[in-house]
Amino acid sequence: MRRGREMRLVSRPAQRIPDPGDVRLVEVTVPDPAPGQVLVRNMFMSIDPGSLLRMDDLSRLDIPHFELGAPLWADAVGEVVVSADAALRPGDVVWHRFGWRDYALADAAEFRRVDPAAYPSLTHHLCFGIVAYIGIELARVGPGDTVFVSSAAGGVGSIAGQIARLRGASRVIGAVGSPEKAAYVTETLRYDAAFDYHAGIRPHLDELDVCFDSVGGAHLEAAIDAMRPRGRIVMCGATQEVRSGRPHGPRNMLAVIGKRLSLLGFYTFDHPELVPRFEAEFPRWVREGEVVIAQTVVDGLENGITAAADQLRGVHTGKVVLRL
Ligand SMILES: NC(=O)c1ccc[n+]([C@@H]2O[C@H](COP(=O)([O-])OP(=O)(O)OC[C@H]3O[C@@H](n4cnc5c(N)ncnc54)[C@H](OP(=O)(O)O)[C@@H]3O)[C@@H](O)[C@H]2O)c1
Repeated sequence: MRRGREMRLVSRPAQRIPDPGDVRLVEVTVPDPAPGQVLVRNMFMSIDPGSLLRMDDLSRLDIPHFELGAPLWADAVGEVVVSADAALRPGDVVWHRFGWRDYALADAAEFRRVDPAAYPSLTHHLCFGIVAYIGIELARVGPGDTVFVSSAAGGVGSIAGQIARLRGASRVIGAVGSPEKAAYVTETLRYDAAFDYHAGIRPHLDELDVCFDSVGGAHLEAAIDAMRPRGRIVMCGATQEVRSGRPHGPRNMLAVIGKRLSLLGFYTFDHPELVPRFEAEFPRWVREGEVVIAQTVVDGLENGITAAADQLRGVHTGKVVLRL
């Protein structure tokens, strides 16, 4: 009988930053798959603020959240080791949602086979290219646009500006949490400009056509102030509010009307119609070096919660991936 480890939630984070004491790594017996099931050895899993939010009790928001005593889950990539379903074979590489454990055992329909050669690295299957791609599509970024991206060294933001450029944007500006990240975003991700938002946001922005926002609050307020008339703002997250647990504005909503701005919040899963185009374009951009995937890879399931806390504190750059 196989043995594997899984990470279980034992308490909800006190200050929205998880602590190693909030989880317990437990060794479990891993049974063989029943008919219709597949057993997968996990190789990499995603650490991201969106899934970490699930450590809180979100029942009031009707959002699925982690249950106390149960294993956590997250996007992951692994290799099929035993299959009791004709749809998948041992050796197949699959994407699924049963991260935070060495082995995933579930119905075959829960796993999606991926082409291991689609990207230069298997870790790239966990990147947030699809979020960035959909946001840039919804913002209708086109030639000559000036585009502002918040959290530009983060999982989504690091890719959004690069896709904006490929769509013809003439100027891409990123906000980040340190001078080192600003240098990375301009030198490696080829943004035209980047600044540390701790020293102020509004002075760095002007004449924006598009804002791709994942932070909200002060970033969104500054962007509204700097938008051209009829500018487009797309919002995939609100990190400032999520991190602090309280609203932060914007306080200038009248300007949205005065300038005829459009503000559009979106969820990736609401746009399956864009997935075929994403799959036709994005992996090729990555293979050909048109898009650089910013990521930090951390080793070991036992280090996952520390990696998650470090990510929320801004220690890491790009998408954080755990190697299992
Ligand atoms: N709508 C969707 O379908 C969808 C899909 C995926 C993700 N999301 C959401 O999109 C957002 C971004 O996701 P992500 O994975 O790319 O996360 P992320 O931006 O990589 O988040 C972590 C980073 O946020 C920055 N940060 C932390 N506190 C901040 C603050 N108060 N103000 C500004 N930046 C702060 C830190 O970087 P610095 O060092 O630069 O501060 C940190 O490294 C999240 O809210 C996530 O839930 C939405």
